This record gives sequence, structure tokens and C-alpha cells, in this order.
Amino acid sequence: MNFVDIHSHILPKIDDGPPSLDIVLQMLRLAYRTGTRAMVATPHMFLPPFNNNDLAEIKHAFAETVQELGRWQSEPGWSFLRDMSLYLGAENYLSPEFLEALEHGRVLSVNQSFYLLVEFSEFLSFEMLISAVERILATGRVPILAHVERYPPFRESPRMLEHLCEMGCVAQLNGASVLRTKGRAQRKIALSFLRQGLVQVIASDAHEHRIRTPVLDQVFAALKKTFSEPDVIAWMFENPRRILANQSLI
Ligand SMILES: [Fe+2]
Repeated sequence: MNFVDIHSHILPKIDDGPPSLDIVLQMLRLAYRTGTRAMVATPHMFLPPFNNNDLAEIKHAFAETVQELGRWQSEPGWSFLRDMSLYLGAENYLSPEFLEALEHGRVLSVNQSFYLLVEFSEFLSFEMLISAVERILATGRVPILAHVERYPPFRESPRMLEHLCEMGCVAQLNGASVLRTKGRAQRKIALSFLRQGLVQVIASDAHEHRIRTPVLDQVFAALKKTFSEPDVIAWMFENPRRILANQSLI
């Protein structure tokens, strides 16, 4: 089994992810060595500091990165890049600019599927969040709520997350949150969400190769100690694979 990572920042110089192609290469090597064979590049879009609101620019940056990596495939020690599939998506920040782009069909879903990765301000009211989710669902897309364990409102009231899942959202958890290195509180809430059946997919949300890394094998090993193997396989293999293939989740 190979990991499919549906949330990662692997395009250089576009957001708070890798500052250079060299770091992208280090990230891909680390991901490959730890069992990942497919990654979705999900740069921040509609998030104010990065000003990435243009679909064409993001597509161009992705094509350019893929082309540069293609050149590296023939370099000694980098032939593994041939076995690493890269796809395009975006981490869409729920903002007025995003909602306008959504109306005009100018948003990037995961590998052109109906799954749309979204993030939002922790200060966004629940009513506003519900309204944005309704608007996404009305376009026939399925919101994937990124790193659900990071939002204080969900931590305080998991019922809010449950309600969003009942509406049709998919909840994504960052793998590293279940590791001891991320701190006790984060780990506790991540495990609690998993136990309550509030999470459908786990991804890395990698930003670089040292701290916020694309390593998923340690997460898989840690989860297998606590949860049933079919559950862990659903979160880390089956559902990510289905999202990429535009299929319903299990
Ligand atoms: Fe992210």
C-alpha cells in the first residue's frame, strides 16, 4: 500500500511552503522514502497574505514545477521521482473573494474532482461557516474541511463538526497531530475526533522537510496501535485514493 497525500504545500515560493525547488526536492525524497507515492499540491488560495486568487497563475506554477522535476528525474539519485505522482488542488480560504470565484467556477478542487479543500478563520461565526458550506454544496462540490483539529470552536464543541459532516462535509486531520511531538493537547483532540468517527481522511499538510514534513508512515504506525487496521486504512489509503478518483468515501 502506498500513501496518497491529499493536502501538501509543495509548490515553491507561492505561499508559506517551500522557499525553493531544492526544498521541494528534499520534501519529495522524504515523502517517497516514507511510503508516499501520490501527492496533491494544495497551495493556499484566497488567503490574504499570499494573494493567490488567480487560477491560471496557480496552474502555471504547478506546470512549471512538474516540468522542473521532470528534468531532475534523469539525474543520479532522483529517478524515484518517476514513481511519485503529483496532482493539483488548492487549500481555499473561505473569504468573499473565494465565494465570488466559486460562483464563477474559478476554484481548484482536488485533481478536478468534486472535492474542494477549504480552511477558514477560527473567528468565522458558525452561521457564516454553514452558509459558505451550503453555497459550496449547492455547486455540487463536497467541502473537505482542512485540519479540523486546529479549530478551537470544534475542540470546544465537536457537535459543530458533527453537524458539518452530516451536511455533507468531509473532515481532514493532519497526521502529525496524533504524534507525541505535536504536544499533548493537540494529540488528545485529534485522537478524540478519530474515536468519535468525525474524521474521514488524514493528510500531511507538509510545508517543508524538517518540521512540518510529508512523513506519514510514523502516523500510520502510531494509529495502528490504537485503532483497528480497517479504520486506519480507510483514513490513510482508501479515502484519499477515492478523493483523487472522484469517488464516494467509505
Ligand atoms: Fe495547508
